[in-house]
Amino acid sequence: MFVPEKSSTARARSLEVFPAGSNGEFNLPPELSMVIAGGEGCEIWDTEGRRYIDFSMGWGSSLVGHARPEVVAAVQQQAPLGSNFAYVNAKTLALAEEICRLSPACEQVRFCASGTEATMYCQRLARAHTGKTKILKFEGAYHGANEVGVTSLFPHRLKPFPSADPSSAGIPDAVAKDILVAPYNDADMAARLIRRHAARLAAVIVEPLQRCTPPREGFLQTLRQACSDKGVLLIFDEVVTGFRLAYGGAQEYYGVVPDLVAYGKALGGGYPIGAFGGSREIMSLVREERLGQAGYVWVASTLGGNPISSAAALATLSVFRREGSYTRLHELGQYLRLGIEAMLAANRIQAQVIGDGPLAQVVFSKTPVYDYRSTRRGNRKRGRALMLALFERGIFLNPMGTKLYLSLAHTRDSCDTFLERFEEALNTVM
Ligand SMILES: Cc1ncc(COP(=O)(O)O)c(C=O)c1O
Repeated sequence: MFVPEKSSTARARSLEVFPAGSNGEFNLPPELSMVIAGGEGCEIWDTEGRRYIDFSMGWGSSLVGHARPEVVAAVQQQAPLGSNFAYVNAKTLALAEEICRLSPACEQVRFCASGTEATMYCQRLARAHTGKTKILKFEGAYHGANEVGVTSLFPHRLKPFPSADPSSAGIPDAVAKDILVAPYNDADMAARLIRRHAARLAAVIVEPLQRCTPPREGFLQTLRQACSDKGVLLIFDEVVTGFRLAYGGAQEYYGVVPDLVAYGKALGGGYPIGAFGGSREIMSLVREERLGQAGYVWVASTLGGNPISSAAALATLSVFRREGSYTRLHELGQYLRLGIEAMLAANRIQAQVIGDGPLAQVVFSKTPVYDYRSTRRGNRKRGRALMLALFERGIFLNPMGTKLYLSLAHTRDSCDTFLERFEEALNTVM
């Protein structure tokens, strides 16, 4: 076992005060753990002066790039005017109006401080609106750290569908009874489950592009139709896809409009934010004058809608709206995915490169991946070893896997550097 020396290095201090030296980012081995001192564009540096090219980008929250000047200026302008009032302010109002303009599902919105809260409120609203309790989710989907979000996220025992697996201790058994689990991308099974359980099913929640796996043709459309036919609400968790695949997110990109939508990550330009919205009718359930009445839905977030995050988000959205932003993000993603594919082929390594837009992931599987179980068949040990080898070579990525987040700050040059180091890393792990 690695025992950190008693030292004043930031690394040793973090191993002392955080479990595994990590604040929840899925820890690195102690000898590789580090403490970040700063970041700019697509680069970060640690307290010991090592520089990394960042392919995590704050788990995708810094899609505009770290310390993007327009975002920094907006925050600097707002900071002396107050950072939180827990009440509607000019910045939040402008942001809410813009979200209602860009998001087809949203007539009204509310803000919170994270994606976890946003999807949790969507689930609660769906249950209250329909008077039903069950939620259908897809195996392997993450909707934040709330109970539905982590259920069947990493099931170790593969139960028959639609049985749920808690995937985390501390979740009461009763929770699983209200969650149905289906395989992502199996439109027929999802439609059958929706029809069979419609009487008690409040909502289907889906990451339109699950983790890094794109939806099959017609999958989201089938969910939409089956939900509409049976009085079940469709929730899009756009915490990752929102503002990333298109300005109007997955709704615009795939042409499917849900009943409720949750946002987070990229919206805040790296500042804490969550937002959720839907029709005026559904959203009216949160009106506080209904407190005490049947159907009232409790929503409260001390920091939700704070003017600093809202100012950062307004600046971020103005960057996304610039001509060419999405062409650039899609081109970069395609460049990186094709580069990785070519390198794997040249080294005669069978693997799948998945993703869309500015997202990419390598799965060491000989067969195509389209859902949790097909992805799980991949060689995860090799994926982890590759990630660590990349990390040692100055590529910072989500220590949890090989999912890569690009940003507007990345260039073909940064992708080329990644590819060079990827080849070296491959040689050490294969
Ligand atoms: C699809 C999806 N939904 C929700 C969340 C939770 O967001 P947060 O970490 O801001 O609570 C995440 C975070 O990774 C996510 O990927």
